[in-house]
Amino acid sequence: MSRTLAIIKPDAVKKNLAGNIITKITEAGFKIKGLKMVRLTKDSAGGFYEVHKERPFFGELVEFMTSGPCIPIVLEKDNAVEDYRKLIGATDPAQAAEGTIRKLYAGSKAENAVHGSDSDENAAIEIAHFFSRKELLENYAD
Ligand code: RTP
Ligand code: MG
Repeated sequence: MSRTLAIIKPDAVKKNLAGNIITKITEAGFKIKGLKMVRLTKDSAGGFYEVHKERPFFGELVEFMTSGPCIPIVLEKDNAVEDYRKLIGATDPAQAAEGTIRKLYAGSKAENAVHGSDSDENAAIEIAHFFSRKELLENYAD
């Protein structure tokens, strides 16, 4: 079993798509191990996407991610990182495969409905960004 961090981004929360997206995720065999709704500060959003801070879209990305509440979710499954990236599809919904979450629900490359970790190492860092040790211990004890 491995873990990944999903985020239902502010565009999808505003469009009331959280339920549909969670259904797609659980139907694909992922177990939810942590979930909360948060409004990111600029510091928190900038820190989360720190790897992109030199990119031209960084300012726009931080604006977007702080524009409303988002829903970070810890997911568990065999091969979680790769399988969840497959389920969400390409960053740009115009390039995303049929049936993927971004193809179904994303409006644009910038406002693309969901986030997914890109490696096991980053998944651990991103999960710790949103969930305390105590929350994770409580959620994982089953
Ligand atoms: P994410 O990290 O959110 O799961 O997305 P990703 O791996 O598919 O894409 P990444 O390259 O990590 O980009 C992070 C997020 O930045 C926004 N973006 N905007 N306007 C643009 O050209 C552009 N490119 C990226 C998107 O919200 C993207 O998901
Ligand atoms: Mg990424």
